[in-house]
Amino acid sequence: MSVLDSEIVATLAAIVGAGNVLTGDDLQGYEQDWRRRAQGKALCVVRPGSTEEVARVVQACAAARVSLVPQGGNTGLVAGSVPDASGTQVVLSLRRMAAVRAIDPQNMTITVEAGFILQRLQETADQAGFLFPLSLGAEGSCTIGGNLATNAGGTQVVRYGNARDLCLGLEVVTAQGEVWDGLSGLRKDNTGYDLRDLYVGSEGTLGVITAATLRLYPKPAAMLTAWAAVPSLEDACSLLGMAHKHLGASLTGFEVMNQFALGLVDKHYPHLRVPMWQETAWCVLIELSDAESEAHARGLFEGMLEQAFEQGLVADAIIAENLRQAHDLWHIRESITLAQVEEGFNVKHDVSIPISLIPEFVREADAALAAAFEGIRFVNFGHLGDGNLHYNIQAPAGIDAKAFVAQHEERISAIVYDTVSKYRGSISAEHGIGELKLHKLPQHKSPTALALMRTIKGALDPHNLLNPGRVLSA
Ligand code: FAD
Ligand code: MLT
Ligand code: ZN
Repeated sequence: MSVLDSEIVATLAAIVGAGNVLTGDDLQGYEQDWRRRAQGKALCVVRPGSTEEVARVVQACAAARVSLVPQGGNTGLVAGSVPDASGTQVVLSLRRMAAVRAIDPQNMTITVEAGFILQRLQETADQAGFLFPLSLGAEGSCTIGGNLATNAGGTQVVRYGNARDLCLGLEVVTAQGEVWDGLSGLRKDNTGYDLRDLYVGSEGTLGVITAATLRLYPKPAAMLTAWAAVPSLEDACSLLGMAHKHLGASLTGFEVMNQFALGLVDKHYPHLRVPMWQETAWCVLIELSDAESEAHARGLFEGMLEQAFEQGLVADAIIAENLRQAHDLWHIRESITLAQVEEGFNVKHDVSIPISLIPEFVREADAALAAAFEGIRFVNFGHLGDGNLHYNIQAPAGIDAKAFVAQHEERISAIVYDTVSKYRGSISAEHGIGELKLHKLPQHKSPTALALMRTIKGALDPHNLLNPGRVLSA
């Protein structure tokens, strides 16, 4: 470590305490991303315990022109939360900041610090008699700061919106180390530019989120989950339309999974007993949250499924008998990501397309890819209710998947993203840009939009100290 590096480490230790500045072997776990697509090298990890400490850390790093990478649970899927390979960046871990600051039952809000784990937030809301609806596979380890920084989506967006929609206020430490207290619980506030919305989804490049005030919802009287085998993606889309019509605001989740994705779960986790996966090309998972009663919910669901059977949209279906069964069905859905990891290296896409165009998009992308790469396998699943597909590609069976991905990922993604753009979709629906999609953005975002983004970055972080080289190239 150079003298300058040692000086900054000592300065940070004076702010947060020596035990909260990690170096050497202790950096493992902070330097590699969840997908193992990026292995960085940090100067150190600093773990502040308060907003004031975060501000002083940022001030110290800004004075020394040392760049910072904010990190929460390090579960992001686009390699945006780990340092680059230079060994000069400081990882700013928010995990120690995990306090509940306030719960306001009448205003139906909760204020928590950025390092609060999402699952704990759901549990805390539940204990207070409310629902916090953000829900995703990584909820046991991701943090609310990371959720907001990536504007995470998940499985309840169709009813409650994404992380942005759940956030009423933020506390942020700016790139200069100033604290912006925007922790308002207001549902209406038109006093100028919306700074909160600027920071949400900025992936640690504009400021460090230290706390947030979030919306709480009434707990539904009953939640029911149905699993249905549907003959085609067109049928899945028609069923979604029917679900909106029959269930209205009670429709809280609508997920789709193709046969190959479910086959992977069956292969790697046979004990999960994936229902119906061999019956049709697609299955859907539908969740209904009812304000009245379980009997009412069941009646609604049965009525809708009956009509769907009559119209041939559904070949087979079950409604979970109890919460345990519902949980098991959701667990199968959430296991697709891990089953893909078990199967080997793959090419991941997180795209959104207008729902009406999704079947056409999939047909066209499938055909183009199958023509270009013999034997590739399509892992298709996601949040159909939001028009968000995880359109992933698994290497052909029996070959070196790592080598296949290294050789062909660029071309595969180019085909997928060109098709996405043709349908006026987005190349990142919910995971963000991070480092992995950085080089793709200029081809799929207008020059005007990119120039505006650069102007914002330059104004808020003129020395490019916060997560440089993520979202926008350095
Ligand atoms: P990290 O991974 O630590 O960081 C993510 C980004 O946010 C980085 O750019 C980082 O610099 C920045 N950041 C983190 N904390 C802060 C902060 N306090 N202030 C400023 N910037 C910060 N995402 C979805 O949207 N929907 C899903 O359904 C979904 N499912 C997933 C399932 C699995 C199994 C996994 C592993 C991931 C999944 N994700 C999903 C990815 C998702 O983006 C992350 O899980 C989560 O939102 C990131 O939170 P985190 O605390 O881990 O953030
Ligand atoms: C999901 O919907 O399960 C997540 O976004 C994770 C993934 O895309 O693998
Ligand atoms: Zn997802």
